[in-house]
Amino acid sequence: MTTVKQMYSADEIADRIDVLAAEIAAEISGHLTVIGVLKGSFIFLADLVRALDRAGLPCRVEFLRLSSYGNKQKASGDVVLIGGYPDVDSDGTILLVDDIVDTGYSITYAINLLKAGSTMQIKTCTLLDKPSRREVDVDVSFVGFTIPDEFVVGYGIDYAENYRSLPYLGVVEKK
Ligand code: IMP
Ligand code: MG
Repeated sequence: MTTVKQMYSADEIADRIDVLAAEIAAEISGHLTVIGVLKGSFIFLADLVRALDRAGLPCRVEFLRLSSYGNKQKASGDVVLIGGYPDVDSDGTILLVDDIVDTGYSITYAINLLKAGSTMQIKTCTLLDKPSRREVDVDVSFVGFTIPDEFVVGYGIDYAENYRSLPYLGVVEKK
């Protein structure tokens, strides 16, 4: 049987996102395009853009969808773009939003993809950062929570496509 042990409650996530949005709004001004990495960032992005608006930083929203081959619980450098390339403005800042930075391969791939198609300044934001798992050096501009090496689900984040609808973040426990 599997159960999910709560790591951050829905209220704790909401509070952190308000603070994070204020941090972002203090650093970024002018045109902002937020690009969410699908699918894992969809709930975080929905809450973050509304918090940014409340913080005085309205934005455009785009998505890009990445997929990595093989076992999602294991590090893989084989990241590919599936679906279309996001529609980016020509001026202002891009805020690339992901759910988790783990080995760093996915976000690095996304940054390089955007750099190839745009000269805009690119900042990065992740809800969760697992620095102990890093395999490629990547500078993440804004981090929601720094967490240890545990497999997290909920709040948009899946394990084999399950648990995305869970309102909180937790760790899957096999019993
Ligand atoms: P990276 O390329 O190793 O940095 O992995 C990033 C992606 O792997 C994240 O955007 C997630 O989609 C997935 N991932 C990494 N860690 C976890 C986890 O703990 N739970 C669920 N998905 C994860
Ligand atoms: Mg992801």
